[in-house]
Amino acid sequence: MTQQASPLASRVGGRRAEGGRRQRSVDPAHTGDVVAEVLLAEPATFVDACRAARAAQAGWAATPAPVRGRVVKHLGRLVEENADALARLVTREIGKPLAEARGEVTEIVDTCDFFAGEGRRLYGQTVPSEMPDKQLFTFRQPVGVAAVITAGNFPVAVPSWYLVPALLCGNAVVWKPAEYAPATAEALAQLCWHAGLPDGVLNLVQADGAATFDGLAAALDAGLVDKVGFTGSTEVGRRIGELCGRHLQVPCLELGGKNPLVVMPDAELDLAVEGALFSGFGTAGQRCTSLGTVIAHRAIHDEFLDRFAAAVERAVLGDPFRDVLYGPMIDQRFCDRFLGWLELIEPHHQVHGSTGTGRITAANPRKGFLGDPADGLYCHPTIVSGVTADDELFRRETFGPIVGVAACDSLEEAVTLANGPGYGLSAAVYTRDPATAFRFRAGVGAGMVSINNSTSGAEAHLPFGGNGRSGNGSRQSGIWVLDQFTRWQALNWDYAGRLQKAQMDVADPTPDRDFRL
Ligand code: UN1
Repeated sequence: MTQQASPLASRVGGRRAEGGRRQRSVDPAHTGDVVAEVLLAEPATFVDACRAARAAQAGWAATPAPVRGRVVKHLGRLVEENADALARLVTREIGKPLAEARGEVTEIVDTCDFFAGEGRRLYGQTVPSEMPDKQLFTFRQPVGVAAVITAGNFPVAVPSWYLVPALLCGNAVVWKPAEYAPATAEALAQLCWHAGLPDGVLNLVQADGAATFDGLAAALDAGLVDKVGFTGSTEVGRRIGELCGRHLQVPCLELGGKNPLVVMPDAELDLAVEGALFSGFGTAGQRCTSLGTVIAHRAIHDEFLDRFAAAVERAVLGDPFRDVLYGPMIDQRFCDRFLGWLELIEPHHQVHGSTGTGRITAANPRKGFLGDPADGLYCHPTIVSGVTADDELFRRETFGPIVGVAACDSLEEAVTLANGPGYGLSAAVYTRDPATAFRFRAGVGAGMVSINNSTSGAEAHLPFGGNGRSGNGSRQSGIWVLDQFTRWQALNWDYAGRLQKAQMDVADPTPDRDFRL
């Protein structure tokens, strides 16, 4: 057992914030291994962090954007130099297979690469005026203080999607990471601070959800927060949306999903199986982009199900430092909740994919498991076929290694089923027909659509986000996230030396409307 002498803590205005409840973060693959101890802060620390951010923000906004871009560039290089250590820490603290953790770290680097250049753009526009001797402009203004609250399934990549553009745009940030991934959060924050951020521009608050909510409410009341970014459950997102709405703020919400993957009769079935395997069971199904329900056309339903079940049976699970499809559940809470979702399996369903369901143990083993399942929070993969639109399992996001399979008779029905649960994050269709692909795209309510690709694995410079129960339409990543962390300011400059009234003092050339050829 490794234990730290001094627990991890929040960092506010460049100083360690003492006090709070001590909590352990354990390796979910070896629950006896304590990765770190952390002091979980009280709401007042969150407010202090917002105050420190407020104090630092004007100076940071006055720093030229290309200079802020240099900091982002340095962060990208530092992350690259520390990629192996960071990826290993991600795997150790949340149990994601090392290959996926490396991918996640690459996603930070991609994000930094993209936004380092944005420091030399952050374009505004020059716009012609309707009057002479007058010029119009637009400027992107930083929003101010951004409070960013993130989940632990992507403990570094998803935070970077907020932190990097928010900082680049001249905002100061208060970041509240998942309380079950504090060591990973500390590591990313250290990399940010060492990239050259002045004190107070990025503040880290290690706290649980309840203290964060109270702290956020108080900070909003005190006028210390201008933008909230939140990645997490639909339920909490709704509460944050309500809270922000009271302050006339629109948060950036990245919430859950019940992501459909449609397999049409002309699909390349093995490709569809590969996509379903990765998006259904990668990260043990704990991505917001994880596959929820396969919607297979009846013409290929049985064949697809046979191949999918065989692929899941063959997949190797176990120690996330070895070559596995997935490792443990991220944290005890996700494991417990997942076991609850298994109760949604009803008598009209059939179960496939493993040698058991629920926890993998010596008494309930998984064929070919790598390592000792008793060490960690491992769960069997579960495919549930015979799912219909009336089932709770069809409607509910089930964060974990469970995938439903439903049948459909037409593309139209597939689209209706895909939209049925009311989420709208990611959706996939497997087909060789361009008309099917485009009709699916137009009909489905998801913010992200894949053709012949899985529901997971978005690239870091396309708009990421969802609709309906998956979010409020906000988008992260690429140029689109700039609208989350800046506000447009319109400037007009009249140098005519007299008042020119818009709409009233505008020249209007007289046309000859009776003219005909
Ligand atoms: C998430 O689960 O919150 O597209 C993000 C993907 C990853 C990001 C997932 N690049 O699956």
